[in-house]
Amino acid sequence: MKSVRDINVEGKKVLVRVDLNVPLKDTEMGNKEVVNDSRIRAVLPTIKYLIEKKAKVIILSHLGRPDGKVVKEYALDPVILRLQELLGTVITHCGECDSKVVKEALNNLKEGEVLSLGNLRFHSEEEKNDQEFAKKLASLGDIYVNDAFAVSHRAHASVEAITHFLPSYAGFLMEKELNTLSSLIKNPVHPFVLIMGGAKAADKIPVIMRLENQVDGVMLGGVVADTFLAANGEDLGSSKIEKDRLDEVRAICNKLKSDGKELYLPSDLVVSPNLDGTGEIITMAVGDKYEAGWKALDIGQSTVDKYRDILLKARTIFWNGNMGMSEVSPFDEGTRKLAGILAEATDAGAKTVICGGDTTGLVDNMGLSDKMTYLSTGGGAALEFLAGLELPGVKALEA
Ligand code: 3PG
Repeated sequence: MKSVRDINVEGKKVLVRVDLNVPLKDTEMGNKEVVNDSRIRAVLPTIKYLIEKKAKVIILSHLGRPDGKVVKEYALDPVILRLQELLGTVITHCGECDSKVVKEALNNLKEGEVLSLGNLRFHSEEEKNDQEFAKKLASLGDIYVNDAFAVSHRAHASVEAITHFLPSYAGFLMEKELNTLSSLIKNPVHPFVLIMGGAKAADKIPVIMRLENQVDGVMLGGVVADTFLAANGEDLGSSKIEKDRLDEVRAICNKLKSDGKELYLPSDLVVSPNLDGTGEIITMAVGDKYEAGWKALDIGQSTVDKYRDILLKARTIFWNGNMGMSEVSPFDEGTRKLAGILAEATDAGAKTVICGGDTTGLVDNMGLSDKMTYLSTGGGAALEFLAGLELPGVKALEA
């Protein structure tokens, strides 16, 4: 894969596709502000490098899913503002992708300066991988750099089609993501524990299947764990279970067992009849009988203790997906404790790689990012890569 490092960018107009799809919240002034800027921080090395090398930098990104229409709440302005603060450089934000304003701004752009376009997904052609739209975008630059690993599982115009019209290179973040994730597949140091949680088993099953040969054990939390427990015959009352996956899950359990791999499931769960963190909340051992309407919402302390013992002996840990319904306190405790354990494990010499916005966001907000080996900016992209699927944005750079 050709790297941005390998070319002379001086004086060239470089289109840099980044993924600045970050969570936003309303401010008291009625604006929006960035809740977690880790994806923005992650693309700084490539942008800084291009500025230093005197390129004319043009930033391309999407935000949210506005479905091909201009939707005010998905305007990139607050995100570009944060990028500007972190970069310490003024960015001329056009707010659109294709107009006189953009052309004029481009004509005025000098070496080492930065310009940004509007949300690409305001154009329906973006998600259709439309060649004409890609050609128009390409006409704004001399060189294309993809530093948006997190959206590279999408065959979109600014990710895939554009590479047919410009010399295309990988940015530093793209390289780092691919190298780190590939190292989990190619040469993990053992014991290697794969932790999967979150609200959907369907996305995690292909990763478990693909990494089954590499890992020594699979550790589960969240709805994924509850679905595995149900597949093993546990009655978890009204807990969310993916019933249509039970046969598939049973087959995975059998395969893990026959291949001598460990499967770590919760031994206790935090349960409540309410999803909002109010009212009665208790911890029940797996096997205890649920009262009508009660559901599992987090892992319990004995599970945390058991998982800690295992993880502190691991040398490689990959984690995606939270242990409970962590957007509601106190059901975030299991995930928080697990994050603390991973920080301990890293300190003890393990390589810890975490992906998925919910999990990395929580780790980052706890101030633990620097305590982990690597936080991927990818969610779906990282899982698809690890599941062995071809990412259109990555394939396009390899062509
Ligand atoms: C992400 O947040 O995972 C990427 O930006 C891709 O977003 P999407 O799932 O809306 O395509």
